[in-house]
Formats: sequence, C-alpha cells, structure tokens
Amino acid sequence: MVLTPNPRVVFAKRLGPGSLLIPGEHIVYDASPTIDLDAVPLNGGFLTKTLMLSPEPFLRERMRDLSVQSTLTHAVVGAPVVGTVLVVVLRSEKEGNDTGVNVGDHMSGLSHWEAYTVQPYVEGRADLNAGTYPDWTVDLEAFGLAPVPDPHGAYPWSHYFSVLGGPGLTAFFGFEAYGDAKKGETIYVSSGASGVGSVVIQLAKEKGLRVIASAGSDAKVEYMRSIGADIAFNYKTTPVEAALKEHGPLDIYWDNVGGASIESAIEHARARARFIMCGSISEYSTPPSECYGVKNTSKIFKKRLQIHGLFVGDHVAALAPRFYAEVPALMAQGKMHAREALTEGLENAPEALMKLLQEGGAEELGKPVVVVAKE
Ligand SMILES: NC(=O)c1ccc[n+]([C@@H]2O[C@H](COP(=O)([O-])OP(=O)(O)OC[C@H]3O[C@@H](n4cnc5c(N)ncnc54)[C@H](OP(=O)(O)O)[C@@H]3O)[C@@H](O)[C@H]2O)c1
Repeated sequence: MVLTPNPRVVFAKRLGPGSLLIPGEHIVYDASPTIDLDAVPLNGGFLTKTLMLSPEPFLRERMRDLSVQSTLTHAVVGAPVVGTVLVVVLRSEKEGNDTGVNVGDHMSGLSHWEAYTVQPYVEGRADLNAGTYPDWTVDLEAFGLAPVPDPHGAYPWSHYFSVLGGPGLTAFFGFEAYGDAKKGETIYVSSGASGVGSVVIQLAKEKGLRVIASAGSDAKVEYMRSIGADIAFNYKTTPVEAALKEHGPLDIYWDNVGGASIESAIEHARARARFIMCGSISEYSTPPSECYGVKNTSKIFKKRLQIHGLFVGDHVAALAPRFYAEVPALMAQGKMHAREALTEGLENAPEALMKLLQEGGAEELGKPVVVVAKE
C-alpha cells in the first residue's frame, strides 16, 4: 500500500455578518490526510486529481451564519471547502460509454478543495435548480462535475474559470436575458475588471454599446480600457457619482458591487433603463445595519426602471447552448480576451480567497485561479 499526501482546505468556522475571512481561522489548510490512489474504493464512482480551483465571491456567502437565508445552501463546518475546480480523472468504474467518465477526461464544476477526491457517479448533469429548497435557495453541491466542453484543450484550462466558465456564463446570461441592448446605448459596469465584469464589457462592445466601467486600481483601469471600455475610472479616486454625472445618462447598469453605486446609477439612468443586479460584493462582509441605504428608490417607478435580479443557474437550460456556440467563436476571432491571475499551491488558496474579499478587492489583474497540480 502506497500512501500519497492528500492535502485539503477545510471550512472551520462560520463568518458572522461583519466578519472578514481570516485564513487559518475560518478556512484552514490541512496537509495531514493521505490516500491510496491505487486501492481507494470508488463505490461505483471515479477518482479525480485537482489541477486548478478558483476562489470566488460566492464562497463567502456559503460560509455565512446559519440564521441567514440566501441563494446558496450553507457550507458544512469540518468538511473541505466546495468550490469551482478543474480535475483530471485517474480511475473510474464508469468507463466506456457515452455518459461514462473515462480515465484522462478533464472535468469542471463544483467539488472539494483537495488534491484527490473520490467522486460519486451521477447520470447526466444535475440541474442547478434541482434540490432547490426553501423557495429561493439552491443546493450548489448537487451540481457536481461535468466534462469540459472542449476536451481537446484548445484553450488554457484556466480559461474555464474566467470567460469559458462561471463568470463568462453569468455575463452572457444576464446580458442576453435582461440587457435588451441596442447599438449606441450606454452601459455602466461596476467591478469591470472582475471575471464577470470583464466579459460584460467585451459583450457590450460587441453589441456596439458605449461602455463606462469602474475598478479599484489604476492598473485595472488600463486593463478595462484594453478590453474596450470607452470610459474607465478608479472608484477609489473618482467617486461613481461624479463619473456618472459626467459620462451618463445610462441605458443599462450592470451591478457587481451594490451599495451607494446603485443610488448613483438610479440618479443617472434614462427612463426605462435596465438594471442587471448580479452581485453586491462591497457588502458581503458588512452587517446589514451598516449597509448603504439607497435614498432615491422612488425614482425606480418614476423613471420606469426595470430591475432584474440575476442568478446564473436560472438560465443554463435556455442560454448555455448559445453561449458555447458564440463565446468560444468570439475568442477564436480575437474579439474576446480571458485573463487569469495564477497562484501556485493549494496551501495558498485560503489567502487568495481572503484577498479577493478584502476591502477594495484583490490587487492582481485577472480572475484569481489557484494551480493545485500539473497534469
Ligand atoms: N448572480 C450570479 O449568478 C453571479 C454569478 C457569479 C458572480 N456573481 C457576482 O458577480 C460579481 C463579480 O464576481 P467575479 O467572480 O467576477 O469576481 P472576481 O473576478 O473574483 O472579482 C471580484 C472583484 O470584486 C471587487 N471587490 C471586492 N471587494 C470589494 C469591495 N469591498 N468593494 C468593492 N469592490 C470589491 C474587486 O475588484 P475592484 O474593487 O477592483 O473592482 C475584486 O477583484 C460578484 O459580486 C459576484 O458575487 C454573481
């Protein structure tokens, strides 16, 4: 019997409403587990090796206090963190047919933050809305893994965490489902250098929109310009209110951050503007009593604004086929660019998540991706 180290990142302690994530306290790297890769029972499933994973904002939400209901089910204390991963299959008891899982297959989706995992075999892919309970909460862990859409590796695997993965799908779904974009209109994208925001900017330019975008550093401002933003500004040095007053009015607002930016967007929206409410990362670690109170909500009806709450999982069945037909083609034509910020080593994953969630966000350009192992 040969035992191989199987390090993991464990969710150790829930975060209260105002708590910032502390690596080593809320999530902990544990190097002690081992695994016998040749003999570990697969129980009808398959064994995977994790190549990459992504620290993402939704992980903070899953670590919230048990009393708080939200879109995603609570993470389990003591269990490995479950997040977006890219894996390769090492052994499988379900090889050899169309729905099977074959040795050497690359798969992406949701799984444990650990080096090796015995995965259950699930016939077909779970619907993101299957297992939904009570009413607006989704059981994320039911989603599992699926083969990567491009098994030949035409793109770097890290792109499956940015343009070709969740952020790209989210941007495409929200823009197509709710944008009603018309050439020449103006969109404002907050957190425009994030995984989601950077794809929104590029989709909007592809549709002939004028794009205003904000992020938290001058390097990100340059990056947003390089992918097509017409007006890009650093919200730490230029208030959103001043920028929208100068460059508005808006036909579409893509909200990744929440808080006071919503008030400015309402103020500078045209009548019948569309608001795509994708995230509120500026408030994920803020107690409700300290969240910004938007003061001009009466202008929502006065201006007949259309406010859309977006959840990526709601649109998979209707829009994923179009996404896979259109977005890789845009990449191949050089009209869509992906950028990831790579960190080496599973042991650095807690720190990478902390940086992403800290006040003002991560400094690195690109979607954070942790490289766990080589092929
Ligand atoms: N609705 C859905 O289905 C769905 C799906 C996926 C993601 N989302 C949401 O989309 C947004 C972007 O996600 P992503 O995965 O693309 O993110 P990401 O690439 O990981 O980037 C997150 C960025 O958020 C900004 N940020 C962090 N803390 C902040 C704070 N306190 N105040 C203001 N900005 C802060 C930072 O950039 P800057 O500060 O430089 O802008 C950071 O780089 C998030 O709100 C996320 O929750 C929603």
